[in-house]
Amino acid sequence: MKEIYGKILEKALPFYEQGREGDVEHIRWLSEVITEYVDESEVDFDILIPVVLLHDVGYARVPQGSNPFNLDIRKFHSEQGAEIAEEILGELEYPKDKIAEVKRLILKHDNWAFGDDFSDEPILRIFSNFDFMWMATEKGFDIVRKFMKQEPEEFYKQIGTFQKKNEEEGRTWVNEKIEAFYHQLMNERKQQLSRAKGANL
Ligand SMILES: [Fe+2]
Ligand SMILES: [Fe+2]
Repeated sequence: MKEIYGKILEKALPFYEQGREGDVEHIRWLSEVITEYVDESEVDFDILIPVVLLHDVGYARVPQGSNPFNLDIRKFHSEQGAEIAEEILGELEYPKDKIAEVKRLILKHDNWAFGDDFSDEPILRIFSNFDFMWMATEKGFDIVRKFMKQEPEEFYKQIGTFQKKNEEEGRTWVNEKIEAFYHQLMNERKQQLSRAKGANL
């Protein structure tokens, strides 16, 4: 990871610590995996990585215990996040044109919840493939499941329902490797569920 990305993360972490539960892990996971699945020739990492690192900092200004699935909360954390991102990147003297672009994308990063398919936003398409997939990872599964107040089995099905909605609304996987990764994670969760079931018998 470039030195500047490390500095961005350093400045972002205090916001995540104050923000939504599990977001430190969420951001660390995203920033570790995302660059393994897309090439720097396809997308400007100097925009993608700051978007990844800063997209949810706005939860620091959302009242604790708010439901992140509430649409007003989604809008509010995106607006606040865009402002905080501008401050952080400004302090680091990040190029002004890139700050403006990162800010613009953070403002709309959750617009899938309002039906956006991101077909005209290649960076958000990649980003949201992974932002979505977080809930299928071992840690993300329990964190997001608790927000939704669902039992594991129920939440596993819920992810499938969300993914169906993605397909219906045209939010596709950026490449086959990313799609295969999602299926791998879902298989792991399925196996985990059947192991837990076996242990309870
Ligand atoms: Fe978000
Ligand atoms: Fe996120």
